[in-house]
Amino acid sequence: MLNIVILAAGMGKRMRSDLPKVLHTLAGRSMLAHVVGTARALSPQRIVIVTGHGAEQVQAACAGQPDVRCVLQSPQLGTGHAVQQAEPELLPGGTTLVLYGDVPLVSEATLRGLVDAAAQGLGVLTVQLPDPTGYGRIVRDDAGEIRRIVEHKDASPAEQAIDEVNTGILAAPTDALRGWLAGLTNDNAQGEYYLTDVIAAAVAAGVPVRSAAPGHAWETLGVNSRAQQAELERLYQRHQAERLLEAGVTLADPARIDVRGGLLCGRDVFIDVNCVFEGEVELADGVIVGPNCVLRNVRVGPGARIEAFSHLEEADVGAGANVGPYARLRPGTVLGERSRVGNFVEVKNARFGADSKANHLSYVGDATVGQRVNIGAGTITCNYDGVNKHRTVIEDDAFIGSDTQLVAPVTVKRGATVGAGTTLTRDAPADTLTVSRSPQKAIEGWRRPVKADKAGR
Ligand code: UD1
Ligand code: CA
Repeated sequence: MLNIVILAAGMGKRMRSDLPKVLHTLAGRSMLAHVVGTARALSPQRIVIVTGHGAEQVQAACAGQPDVRCVLQSPQLGTGHAVQQAEPELLPGGTTLVLYGDVPLVSEATLRGLVDAAAQGLGVLTVQLPDPTGYGRIVRDDAGEIRRIVEHKDASPAEQAIDEVNTGILAAPTDALRGWLAGLTNDNAQGEYYLTDVIAAAVAAGVPVRSAAPGHAWETLGVNSRAQQAELERLYQRHQAERLLEAGVTLADPARIDVRGGLLCGRDVFIDVNCVFEGEVELADGVIVGPNCVLRNVRVGPGARIEAFSHLEEADVGAGANVGPYARLRPGTVLGERSRVGNFVEVKNARFGADSKANHLSYVGDATVGQRVNIGAGTITCNYDGVNKHRTVIEDDAFIGSDTQLVAPVTVKRGATVGAGTTLTRDAPADTLTVSRSPQKAIEGWRRPVKADKAGR
């Protein structure tokens, strides 16, 4: 049985923001969402979030997550008081793990280590810091056993010299914790109910107290300011980059990639500088992504190339396809194998069959394009009549001349050729040239108009 309590009542004054601190983002997701995600990975029976400042916004952010319960802490009288508010929601037995909503990078592995350390009693996640100022210090006896935690403001000079600090994250036996919480007092320098006082209570009750260390010290860093938020963002991104390098991805510069979601890569993927990956992105074997691309919820097939400055959202790029430079694939784009979408081409809710091309300056929206189709420069699917969207169908082996407007709903039949400059308002028959241009004429004896003074009057 595992309960997880996430403390998220703090104000976050130094963020200077209308948004509650825990809703500020890291890698595209709120800090609270990171913590809840990691909490879920431990398969707890219950997750309780303690809200306070901006409680309504935090509750709204948790709406639609039936496995998460919010309790209100008002006023905020300390970390111990915060957990007291969650106590009625805790399921009996087992362990209760306490996390902070503003410590977003703590990993599943670290928390498993802590919960294991707490199996026989109480576990505290601690780190050693060169400058422990401000933190609660871990006080041990001569045998090295943890006796209590003393807050910085209550610590003697000797205690302030201790460099092992409380990260704030702890795991305790739920049933005993209830009693320890009930016994907390606010008789201390800050007049707060300290959660950290449960450590001395456990020791007094003869319950073993163990420490656990995080996988990386930076996992336990908290965010109190925009500067710390930016610092954690870089730490997180650096960690993502290292993970990709270890998985065999080539990064032109590990310091210039941002992953805001999940990025899954096959073998021998190359990613150039300044690319942003959002949501769930999958790059298959041998994919090359050029510099300055944004990919949001995209799948790219084996051997495909995304050239510089392309923007792809909810798109599926087939094997060996070529996109960009300067291409925009909007939601619902599906590109077949070896297809090409070139510079200044926008594709939306459209499917390209294998080996089809739109190489230059076109808009292809709400369209079904067959195989081996060539769409010339400046082609536009006129899919919107001001009220409704209509579909354009271009069948296999069609050739669309440059500067063509396809006024949907309209179909270009198999093997048809549409002459350059055509405005197609009816279907183009198969294997036939359709052209709507007015015939070209040359007017004999025509003179350019001239200005009156130059004409000598
Ligand atoms: C706390 C610990 C300290 C530890 C430090 C690590 C206590 C008494 N002290 O100190 O030992 O070294 O964290 O950063 O626990 N919160 C609430 N309600 C409250 C008070 C706090 O929800 O009434 C939340 C905050 O939003 C924050 C977390 O608890 O997420 C910690 O609060 P904070 O004020 O930062 O604790 P510290 O005094 O720094
Ligand atoms: Ca703090």
